[in-house]
Amino acid sequence: MGESGRRVAVFGAGYVGLVTGACFAELGHRVVVRDVVAEKIDALRRGDVPIYEPGLDDLLARNRDRLSFTIDVDEAIDGAEFVYVAVGTPPTYSGDADLSAVWTVIDELPRVDHRVVVCMKSTVPVGTGEKVRHRLDARGLEHVGYVSNPEFTAEGTAVRDFMEPDRIVVGAFEAADGDAAAALHGGIDAPVVRCDVASAEMIKLAANAALMTRISFINEIANVCEATGADVVRVAEGIGWDRRIGKNFLRAGIGFGGSCFPKDSLALKQLAASSGYHFQVLNAVIEVNELQKRRVIGKLKQLVGSLRGRRVALLGLAFKPNTDDTREAPAFVLAGRLLAEGADVVAWDPIASADGLHGVVQVATVEEALDGADAAVLVTEWPQLAEVDWSSVGARMRSRVLVDGRNMLDPEAMRAAGFTYDAIGRAAR
Ligand SMILES: NC(=O)c1ccc[n+]([C@@H]2O[C@H](COP(=O)([O-])OP(=O)(O)OC[C@H]3O[C@@H](n4cnc5c(N)ncnc54)[C@H](O)[C@@H]3O)[C@@H](O)[C@H]2O)c1
Repeated sequence: MGESGRRVAVFGAGYVGLVTGACFAELGHRVVVRDVVAEKIDALRRGDVPIYEPGLDDLLARNRDRLSFTIDVDEAIDGAEFVYVAVGTPPTYSGDADLSAVWTVIDELPRVDHRVVVCMKSTVPVGTGEKVRHRLDARGLEHVGYVSNPEFTAEGTAVRDFMEPDRIVVGAFEAADGDAAAALHGGIDAPVVRCDVASAEMIKLAANAALMTRISFINEIANVCEATGADVVRVAEGIGWDRRIGKNFLRAGIGFGGSCFPKDSLALKQLAASSGYHFQVLNAVIEVNELQKRRVIGKLKQLVGSLRGRRVALLGLAFKPNTDDTREAPAFVLAGRLLAEGADVVAWDPIASADGLHGVVQVATVEEALDGADAAVLVTEWPQLAEVDWSSVGARMRSRVLVDGRNMLDPEAMRAAGFTYDAIGRAAR
């Protein structure tokens, strides 16, 4: 792109901000990434990447000439034509999205004399753009444009998802700002959905809600399968071939986690409720997910009896493979429940850390985790777990009991390896 490169400031050097910055640089733009955490910026300047996201290190290294990092707002904004907001929007105690970091960015935008378009990447409630517009106008920044350009990347595949998205959504107040934000993605081959700001905000929330609904749906089908002798893996395959349904997001398991689904479902629920609407389906989706995480405890009790004094190995801490993110990870809920039942909990994960999980011992290998264990739970479907020689590692356990929370392993092979094996929605034989 070279000459046509635009100047982009990205606020937030987290999972979304770093991928956004690196990918825009890859597209030929000059990018300044700003964060408030000085250590992160220092690390990035040294060439260290503070998060684990496949392909991100290479992309940052390859585009070093077009990327810089700063904690200074003025330095970030200097000459910028676009200001991408990619700060966190975690839940508050009420379940609403906490927009304080977003407001900080908006309020600290310095006066600029040229046209700048603020592009919202953070996931925000419907109506946020309208409020930002008022706040900018109140500061006399009418010439600063505003666009909602929500992010649909998934951790673990974020770089590919950004460069090869299913669609790009651009919601704008002014058509020219929408045109500019859409053009910034030049080089990416994807449909562009142009709409108003509120609809763009809702597209993000609705997309997540649709995916979560499929997960809770298949998990409930799994629970009925267990009670009736059917196998949810075959059932999902059978319904997935139906073009009206499709195969994605039909893997039964111990429930969704991560930094987005749980908080975004709560935020949409609260948004609906505050607008006077009781979103029944979403409430059920959330409740099913909470119960699903806890069902593993019931399975373990059925298999080994009381958990008091039992050593239980958690295989996987990250909320899904290929990320180090443990925000709202099912492993954390499970660990808390197991400790409350009096179990000794030992955990293995190739990347994610058990920091914050008091009372859990983290070990470096699957073998160590299984040493002397009374039971194991496969929590995260890390590919490494498919390579384990279960009949030999089983010998290290006090009893060969495994609950496969992701239906990852072959039930027949596990039983042949001497395991009492249970999974999700696959009637135990
Ligand atoms: N993680 C994902 O895969 C994903 C996907 C789609 C959308 N989102 C949304 O994107 C947003 C960011 O998510 P994330 O996972 O990248 O969060 P994150 O916590 O990894 O990163 C947020 C970063 O913003 C920084 N920050 C806070 N205040 C700042 C300020 N005033 N100026 C500059 N930086 C500031 C923080 O220090 C942090 O590094 C959230 O709204 C999230 O819901 C995330």
